[in-house]
Amino acid sequence: MNITKSIIETTIKTVGRKRINRYLKRRGIKFEIARQGATYYSYYWQSARKKRDLREDDDFWKLSTEIIKEKRTFLKYDRLFTFWQILQRLPYPGDPVVEIGTYRGGSAKFLYQAIKKMNLNCPLYVFDTFEGHAVVDADLDGRHKVGSFSETSYEEVKNYIDAAEVEIIPGDFLKTAGVLEPIQNFSLIHIDVDVYPVTKFCLAFFKPRTKPGSVIVIDDYGNNYCQGLKQAVDEFVQENADFCMHYLLSGQALLFRLKKSDDMRQ
Ligand SMILES: C[S@@+](CC[C@H](N)C(=O)[O-])C[C@H]1O[C@@H](n2cnc3c(N)ncnc32)[C@H](O)[C@@H]1O
Repeated sequence: MNITKSIIETTIKTVGRKRINRYLKRRGIKFEIARQGATYYSYYWQSARKKRDLREDDDFWKLSTEIIKEKRTFLKYDRLFTFWQILQRLPYPGDPVVEIGTYRGGSAKFLYQAIKKMNLNCPLYVFDTFEGHAVVDADLDGRHKVGSFSETSYEEVKNYIDAAEVEIIPGDFLKTAGVLEPIQNFSLIHIDVDVYPVTKFCLAFFKPRTKPGSVIVIDDYGNNYCQGLKQAVDEFVQENADFCMHYLLSGQALLFRLKKSDDMRQ
């Protein structure tokens, strides 16, 4: 890895960043070497140095850095910051928050710690099989297989989150969702399950359990390896005009409930 890095750095130094970028552009390669030497699609870096520096937001930076360092989540600053912002502006502080797809617990722990830091007193529910994907659609879900993401366990995640007030419910959400049946007022729903069947199920299940202003965050909507998940979201948006979708460059999709509809439980 270090050798690769030093070869890239030497090439940049000798050939020049701009010349390499021009060459890549001519060849139609959507790749660019940014000022600091990183190689990324350029639109993710446009004017990065002019943008607000997240490190100045002490509370967010400290908490997210801690969680990222613990290496129990795939989410980095950009995606964690989405939650931070949503929690700061919750229309119904105190209403429940839920995560489906916790894996090793990192994103759930971030939600818990952020809720605590902001004194929101929201109950937090966390779901996973803790045995990997339970159901996949072989035609839509590509490389995802039953059992992927099984390197975790309920006990390990419980110890890691270390908060008696967080309800962690193990099992296939298609079977365990009933636990949430009586709750009708989720303010934030995080769906991070990668595949079509459970994403489709989650959206249908939570739709009547939201209020205008509630937010559903779907991770990996923009991930090319999660086409099934994207299809489930697109189908939902097409059929539900009372939800408005925003796609973020972080790869997340946000679904905002706009107005009351007949299927709302309250
Ligand atoms: C990408 S991982 C979640 C990553 C995690 N949120 C993080 O912080 O990095 C996807 C998770 O969805 C879970 N999952 C998939 N299908 C499920 C189902 N039917 N019921 C419950 N969990 C499911 C898998 O077990 C896996 O742990």
